[in-house]
Amino acid sequence: MNKVDVLLGLQWGDEGKGKIVDVLTPKYDIIARFQGGPNAGHTLEFDGIKHVLHTIPSGIFRKDTLNLIGNGVVIDPVIFQKEIEALGKFNLDIKSSLLISNKAHLILPTHRLLDAASEKAKGKEKIGSTLKGIGPTYMDKTGRNGLRVGDIFTPNFKDKYDKLVEKHVGILEHHKDFDYDLSELEPAFFEGIELLRTLTTVDSEHYINNAMKEGKTVLAEGAQGTLLDIDFGSYPFVTSSNTVTAGTCTGLGVAPTKIGKVIGIFKAYCTRVGSGPFPTELHDEVGEQIRKAGSEFGATTGRPRRCGWIDLPALKYAIMINGATELSMMKSDVLEEFDTLKVCTHYIIDGKKIDYLPFDVVDADIEPVYETVKGWKTDLTKLTSMADAPQELKDYVAYLEKHLEVPITTVSVGPDRTQTLDNRK
Ligand code: GDP
Ligand code: IMO
Ligand code: MG
Repeated sequence: MNKVDVLLGLQWGDEGKGKIVDVLTPKYDIIARFQGGPNAGHTLEFDGIKHVLHTIPSGIFRKDTLNLIGNGVVIDPVIFQKEIEALGKFNLDIKSSLLISNKAHLILPTHRLLDAASEKAKGKEKIGSTLKGIGPTYMDKTGRNGLRVGDIFTPNFKDKYDKLVEKHVGILEHHKDFDYDLSELEPAFFEGIELLRTLTTVDSEHYINNAMKEGKTVLAEGAQGTLLDIDFGSYPFVTSSNTVTAGTCTGLGVAPTKIGKVIGIFKAYCTRVGSGPFPTELHDEVGEQIRKAGSEFGATTGRPRRCGWIDLPALKYAIMINGATELSMMKSDVLEEFDTLKVCTHYIIDGKKIDYLPFDVVDADIEPVYETVKGWKTDLTKLTSMADAPQELKDYVAYLEKHLEVPITTVSVGPDRTQTLDNRK
């Protein structure tokens, strides 16, 4: 029986997961999303066109690949419909290439309202949510109130919907200065539900296990990143799902013994969007330079991403939690302007030097300790082989491999599918 390979982010999301899943897709029969929802924005670039996917797995553009939205994902029918419509011009057979789990939970318009009301009430302490209703939907899932895709085929779906909405309206009443008009939001929701009814829904846990038994290969596509994980991220400034390898098991119905390779993906530097701690964040012109060179603006919300140097204690932590077996380093080309690069190897907290991520990353005063390495000062975007890469880039990769103790098998040098270098030894 085949095992499921996993690709997931080791930082605060936006590492370039969409690009690498697209690059790896020809090796796999099935690409499966296992958590998150339209808070994700996964960018793919090929043939001069840029695509941003939110709920749909990044294998959708390759012929002969099945794309599965697993039970761990939360789906907003409104955003989902827009995504499907945006794919309309690419002549894809969505009905046969996209499968949706009956157990995936639905994001209701009131979940989005609750998200916005909660963020407003938090004021300065807001999470910086994408406002897609992610938190409230997962709360209803664990609170055992949620609606699932399979429910839309039951005769009393509308009753179930009304009951949950009534509950939400009751909560929203406590938010005194929060105005909304639900009647404006509902038509698009029910239109999206109609669309979902026409697509292929499956009991995905059976589907995926049977497929593996038949020798099919599966790549699980993570969303967000390890430092946004509900258990292991910089809580409470996190998302509401398990973004780590273990999330693949619960989000797809795959046993831990059936996990194969775990590909951890990270940027050659670090970014974060939304609030929360970021030890290596640069508030100066260097941060601004990285943001500009890397076009670091959110794929889902357009917000500027906060930028900083690479953080080894955080990366080592992420590698440990995920059991990463190989790594992909992204956006190496972005650092081409710098004579020297900084690498955070330790933190100093209360005068003590440590090389791990402590419990309290929110209130603790963390001072990063850096080592300085030489930059490559070379345009990498036209490179086609690691053999031709400047020595400084090879040294940077080797330096990181030494500290992280996991091989970096892919080095990305541009957003396009083709700008991807194989670094397997
Ligand atoms: P994801 O959420 O992990 O899929 O990442 P996003 O799509 O949100 O953000 C990654 C951004 O970087 C996208 O705009 C990609 O097109 C772009 N990108 C990916 N790899 C590279 C790279 O190696 N170099 C450059 N310059 N851009 C890249
Ligand atoms: P991809 O898959 C980067 C961040 C938000 C916020 C926090 C909680 O594209 O890497 P939520 O909407 O989940 O309640 O927001 O998590 N966040 C992301 N940051 N990439 C993402 O997804 C993100 N999804 C959520 O900015 O700080
Ligand atoms: Mg993204």
